[in-house]
Amino acid sequence: MVKILAVKARSILDSRGNPTVECDIKTEKGLSRASVPSGASTGSHEAVELRDNAKAYLGKGVERAVKNVNTIIARALKGKDPTRQEEIDKLLIELDGTANKSKLGANAILSASLACARAGSAAKGVELFEHIQKISSTKKCTIPVPALNIINGGKHAGNKIDVQEYMIIPVKAKSFSHALQISSEIYHKLKETLKLRFGASATNVGDEGGFAPPLDCIEEPLELITDTIIKLGYWKEVKLGMDVAATSFWKGNKYLVEGKETTADLLLERYEELAKTFPLVSIEDPFYEEDFEHFAQLHTKTDLQIIGDDLLCTNLSRIKKAAEHHSCNALLLKMNQIGTLSEALAAASYAKSRHWNVMVSHRSGETEDNFIADLCVGTASGQIKAGAPCRGERLAKYNQLLRLEEKGIKYAGKNLRFS
Ligand code: PGA
Ligand code: ZN
Repeated sequence: MVKILAVKARSILDSRGNPTVECDIKTEKGLSRASVPSGASTGSHEAVELRDNAKAYLGKGVERAVKNVNTIIARALKGKDPTRQEEIDKLLIELDGTANKSKLGANAILSASLACARAGSAAKGVELFEHIQKISSTKKCTIPVPALNIINGGKHAGNKIDVQEYMIIPVKAKSFSHALQISSEIYHKLKETLKLRFGASATNVGDEGGFAPPLDCIEEPLELITDTIIKLGYWKEVKLGMDVAATSFWKGNKYLVEGKETTADLLLERYEELAKTFPLVSIEDPFYEEDFEHFAQLHTKTDLQIIGDDLLCTNLSRIKKAAEHHSCNALLLKMNQIGTLSEALAAASYAKSRHWNVMVSHRSGETEDNFIADLCVGTASGQIKAGAPCRGERLAKYNQLLRLEEKGIKYAGKNLRFS
C-alpha cells in the first residue's frame, strides 16, 4: 500500500490576485498538488471559505486555513492510503465536525481532498480522470461540451449588464477541439465588432475572460453574439447559455434590472421571450437562491436547461429539495461549494439519478489547476464551463481537455439533451 508521507499547504494567489490555498501531498510515488478556486457571486448555502479577516491582503489572507492543513489535517492524513478517497474525505469531514466546514475551512479541506485524489491516481499509476471514473463508478467517460462565457456582466465586470454570463455552447461541433476552434473564432470576431461599435475599451475583459462592453440591457449581448455566430456560419453548431446569477440583483422583495424594479413574474415572461427569440438552450440561476417556485414555473413553461448554482450549492439536501419541486433539470457542480471530492461526486450522482444534466464549473477566481477537466471527463458530466477561450487559468482547463481528447474518449455533444 502507498502511504501519505507528508501534507503541506501554502497560500498562493488566484486569478484576481487574492490568496487561496494550495496543498502538496507526498507519497513514495512523488508529490501531488492541488489548489482551490474562489467565487465572487457566492451562494449563501456554500461551505465556508475561511479567511483571516486580518490586516494582510485586506482581510482576505488564508493563513488560518493553511495552518489547519499543516497541523490538524496533516497529522490525520499521515500514514493513510490516498487511493481510499471516500475514507479520506469522511475523515476530513469528521475532523471539521460542522455542517458547513466552518471550523477548518472548506478551502483547507478541499485542497487536501483534491491533492489526495491526485496522490491516489499516482499510487495506482493511472490518470486522474481514470481514478475519478473508478471512484465515481462511471461506466464510460466522455469529453464535455464547453460553455464559454464570452460576455461578462454582474459581479464579474465593471459594466452595467445585470446578467453575469453570456455563453456560447458548441453542441453540434464534431469534437472538443472543433468546439474550441469555433468558440475562439466567435470570440475574436465578437472582439472586432465590439471594437468597431464601441471603441477599443469595450474589448477589456472581465474576471472570466469574456468581454465587458458598455451595454445595459439584457438582450443586447444575446443579439451581438447571435449576429456573430450567423456571420461566421455557425448557427447550426452553436447555441447560447446565460448565467443570470439573479441573487446578485435581488433586493429583498424585488429584482433590480436595468435600473428598474421588477418582479419574478415579469422576469419569467422576459425569459420566455428570450427563449423564443434567440438560440438560447440553457439558463442558470434565473431567480434568486431561495425561489424554488419560479425556477419550477420556468422549467414547466420552456424547453430550457435550467441550471441551479446558488440555488443548489452542490449540496445534496438542496438538490433533493429542487428535485421535489421540479425546479431544475441540471446541476452546476462546484467542488468548493461543498468542500470534498466525495461529496461533489455524490451530488453529481444523485443529479444523474434524477436524469438531470450536470455542468462542471470553475469559479470566477481561479488558479492554474486543471482538476475540473479530469473531474468532468471521469464523471462523464457532459458539460463544463470554464470561462472564455482567453486567460491562462481558463485555458488550463480547456487545454487539458484537448489532451484528454487525444485518448479517443467520445465527445458528449451528440447525446446532450437540454430539456
Ligand atoms: P462565481 O461565479 O465563481 O463568482 O460564484 C460563477 C457562477 O456564478 O457560476
Ligand atoms: Zn452561477
